[in-house]
Amino acid sequence: SKENLEQLRRIVLEELSASDQDDLLLTKELDYHTIIKWGDKISDDDSFGFNNDFTCFIPLNENNPKDGLLWVNHEYVNPLFVSGFNHRKYKNPQQHRTVEQVNKEMYNVGGSIIRIKEEKGKWSIVENDPLNRRITAQTPIQLNWDTPIKGKTSVVGTLSNCSGGITPWKTFLSCEENYDGFFGETEYNENNETTHRPSFYGWENFYDYPPEHYGWVVEIDPKNGRAQKHIALGRFAHECCTLYELDDKRVVVYTGDDKNSEHLYKFISSKPGSLKEGILYVADTVHGKWLALDWENQTVLREKFKDQTEVLIRAREASKLLGATELNRPEDIEIDPITGNIFISLTNNKDVNDFHGSILKIEETNGEFDALTFRASTYKVGGEENGFSCPDNLAFDLSGNLWITSDMSGSAMNKIDKPYMSFKNNSLFVIPRYGEQAGEVIRVASAPRDAELTGPWFSPDGKTLFLSVQHPGEQSIDLNTLTSKWPFDKDDIPKPAVVAITGNLIEKMNNLNKIYG
Ligand code: FEO
Ligand code: CA
Ligand code: CA
Ligand code: CA
Repeated sequence: SKENLEQLRRIVLEELSASDQDDLLLTKELDYHTIIKWGDKISDDDSFGFNNDFTCFIPLNENNPKDGLLWVNHEYVNPLFVSGFNHRKYKNPQQHRTVEQVNKEMYNVGGSIIRIKEEKGKWSIVENDPLNRRITAQTPIQLNWDTPIKGKTSVVGTLSNCSGGITPWKTFLSCEENYDGFFGETEYNENNETTHRPSFYGWENFYDYPPEHYGWVVEIDPKNGRAQKHIALGRFAHECCTLYELDDKRVVVYTGDDKNSEHLYKFISSKPGSLKEGILYVADTVHGKWLALDWENQTVLREKFKDQTEVLIRAREASKLLGATELNRPEDIEIDPITGNIFISLTNNKDVNDFHGSILKIEETNGEFDALTFRASTYKVGGEENGFSCPDNLAFDLSGNLWITSDMSGSAMNKIDKPYMSFKNNSLFVIPRYGEQAGEVIRVASAPRDAELTGPWFSPDGKTLFLSVQHPGEQSIDLNTLTSKWPFDKDDIPKPAVVAITGNLIEKMNNLNKIYG
């Protein structure tokens, strides 16, 4: 009724205050329950990995939004908890590693597929479902490319799986971000001679896998677990992979390189339903141009690189040669379901004194996703004026409200000498699209200590927000000085977990378009 409508329009979101409490706090009308946490059994043979990030839900049957497969990325490990190795204890930590520790760490990255169901408002895992599966740093993975990379067409494992995406043909995409932390990186001097930069985890001291096998976008078929890496999308610290299907079923992919002063990319496939062939472009946001990383047609690339495969492996260098714009760490990317504009979190760039980041908006020319020109503008800046800092993951709900998570680094949060003090713990925010609060950035959840809220993903009926709580207690020096105990298990050990956020507010926000529409 009209009265009801008026009532609904008066909804005001109650903002949660910034907090440094060690808990997952939610604003009024929100609840959560834990679906799964690190170490939980998913089958007789396998357990859930560490540091869950991206989540993505596909219903098994389109007519039932309450039963499906959840893909979860496991980005990296904290050896202190996972393998018992405390690198802080040693001057030369790599001299004290064992293969058993490294194997445990390799098992705990990659991703998990779990079948989950909702009953009476609670989501839980279907333990031992035949579709439950782990993909780890030791799983064989095909390269979807005709030229071998470092002599191989099949490589071992995936790692540093940060954010991701979903394809129109219902497979999961998982992005390899800070891959250099595990097997190091190949570096080139002016004469094109190479050296190996060692990694933080030192896995290369135990397994001889080349860095060039990592830094790609990985596609996983949920039905059989088949995984492949898409070379055509380039190699860099891929944060995420956001797809749009054109009318002729070719796909456009947006993906960013989350490193100081790196770039934003767009791939346009040349064939429908495939990420194998097409052209990778990099953004010149100053002139609004997508520049083709195309060896055959770009003289500067032909002069420097021997073929297209080398251009893709060294995409950062190739982008700089073309004059791509250096950005402040592009993180997650989402397409506004109502306007078709593209939103990109630029989390920060301390090298250029951008401490709080911003959200960039891209409007493709004539709204055509395969356009080669666009307009770039700043949508929202981080900092005191908008009450958030270091935007990272983004998600639009069914009504087109924009949800944002923050990622201030654990070593800088809540520190009096750092610019993040007033923001306290990392949080989840929403920018309503309608009503009195339209355009405001409103905090609705606050993370446990040192944690980051990641991987926001709405269930198809808009009644649940799946959310990862990643790296609680990461700043703990050892097991006797824990900075977090969330989720408050008997052993006190902090554990990353995936939670379901439910409640009136989630439903209301997802239905706002019906009230204002
Ligand atoms: Fe893994 Fe850029 O966050
Ligand atoms: Ca991220
Ligand atoms: Ca997202
Ligand atoms: Ca981040």
